[in-house]
Amino acid sequence: MKKVILFGLVFTATTLLADIAAGENVYKENCAICHTINGGAALGPDFNIVSYTRRAKEIENYAKDPYSLFEAFGYSANAMPTLPLEAQQFKDVAAYISSLQPFKKWMKK
Ligand code: HEC
Repeated sequence: MKKVILFGLVFTATTLLADIAAGENVYKENCAICHTINGGAALGPDFNIVSYTRRAKEIENYAKDPYSLFEAFGYSANAMPTLPLEAQQFKDVAAYISSLQPFKKWMKK
């Protein structure tokens, strides 16, 4: 019984953690056609800039549901599709994008 509970806890902890390496693959397979990293704006904004201006949670939320958030993020129209990814993949790709810039807009020098 104890072992079952312990396994459950470890399993829950690992699935809730974001995996940056897995997130890089999610980026390459699902985002790179529209978003560059350091290549300037393409159809969508450059993720190097997004990493500096947005928190991981904001990136995750936008990727999950761009249609509901485009106005709050300052866009007048929504051209990004809602992608059919797993919750964990959204978390991973957001962690990867957020990891690109260690210093953030809201950090004071
Ligand atoms: C078909 C093109 C396309 C794909 C694929 C795409 N995006 Fe976008 N993305 C856009 C466009 C265009 C915008 C600008 C806002 C809009 O149109 O919704 C955008 C905006 C964003 C923003 C808001 C950036 C900001 O700070 O204002 C985030 C975050 C984002 N995308 C994440 C992702 C992630 C993560 C993926 C892959 C899982 C992805 N996008 C795939 C086109 C795309």
